[in-house]
Amino acid sequence: MKYFIVTYGCQMNVHESEKIAGILEKLGYESGKSREDADIIVFNTCAIREGAEDRVLGNIGNLKKLKKKNKNLIIAVVGCMTQKQQTAEYLLRTFPFIDIVIGTFNLSNLGYYIDAVKKGRQLELWEEGDIDETLPYKRTSGENAWVNIMQGCNNFCSYCIVPYVRGREKSRKEENILNEIKEIVKENKYKKITLLGQNVNSYGKDLNPAIPFSKLLHDICAIEGDFKLSFMTSHPKDLTDDVIDAIASEDKIEKFIHLPAQSGNNRILKMMNRNYTREKYLEIIKKIREKIPNCRITSDFIVGFPTETEEEFNDTYSLVEEVRYDSIFAFMYSPREGTVASKMEGQVPQKIKNERVNKLLKLEKRLQKEYKN
Ligand code: SAH
Ligand code: SF4
Ligand code: F3S
Repeated sequence: MKYFIVTYGCQMNVHESEKIAGILEKLGYESGKSREDADIIVFNTCAIREGAEDRVLGNIGNLKKLKKKNKNLIIAVVGCMTQKQQTAEYLLRTFPFIDIVIGTFNLSNLGYYIDAVKKGRQLELWEEGDIDETLPYKRTSGENAWVNIMQGCNNFCSYCIVPYVRGREKSRKEENILNEIKEIVKENKYKKITLLGQNVNSYGKDLNPAIPFSKLLHDICAIEGDFKLSFMTSHPKDLTDDVIDAIASEDKIEKFIHLPAQSGNNRILKMMNRNYTREKYLEIIKKIREKIPNCRITSDFIVGFPTETEEEFNDTYSLVEEVRYDSIFAFMYSPREGTVASKMEGQVPQKIKNERVNKLLKLEKRLQKEYKN
């Protein structure tokens, strides 16, 4: 019995697919080489932009042929896209050959649903619950070991679907994280450990007693062993001095920060509900450059947010020029149903979004050439 997992989306999903693999191996499945070769195919989906969802839909459609050839093939669709009730129902309606549709909160019970498929199709979407710490991971990312430190997000940036499909911020207990990392170090296979969370800087605020993220970093670095530590993603509003100091002072921490700015214009930042200004963002960058020489800095940007004017986009452009990032991701704003921004008037035409994203990417190329010289 073989499994094949198709993963879309962020590192969080990549890591969760390692959990899916762990669950499937516990059930006696082995890793297969292709979809054709598999007895169970799992699509771990992403809902961040329309493009991500379209890719999933196209690829699910293609599975029909496989199901025809092999009636016993089990097809499961899980992840952020399926946590939305409407999408989950749409999938079952449109693709009658899908066997299991479950959301992010049910993932730990995938084994149960596989068993239940014998009795009929499975659709279940739970409300958020606790993280199941007992499930094994089958680590598949080479020399890097992902470690989840928290789930969910409380920020509700007005464009973003994540808080709706991942629930509220919930930090793992520090002790459990440290134990997991000790195990990883003991295995002696991983040179790099990457901590994952939508907003790692707010780690520990919900614990009792609260623990600052910088303490977690220092405590991990105190674990004996030869490894490099990094983390993502940092939200500028919560990147405090103690975290910058930890990166500067701990040899084990990589000199690298992914610090998404999203926009360089204060009116747009406000509408995005990001809770910082361009000036505050630049101040943080200055501090990082002062305290951590040679720190690599990367960022994400969204162009064509509702009502964004050409001048406001130019503020984003000039921010990218000013900060001289090591690299950036630039995305065209994609309205997500249920979010505040999707209901805003003044949606920007696709053609203009295209132009702006191309301008940013061209700028990035130019800047990268300049560094190399
Ligand atoms: N928690 C992280 C990022 C999560 S999503 C953070 O706050 O930075 C990764 C990136 O996708 C975001 O940084 C943003 O640039 C982009 N993104 C999120 N929602 C989007 C949307 N509706 N349209 C376009 N890009 C989006
Ligand atoms: Fe989305 Fe904002 Fe949360 Fe990041 S911080 S996951 S962009 S709501
Ligand atoms: Fe996508 Fe979910 Fe990650 S929406 S970006 S897979 S948290």
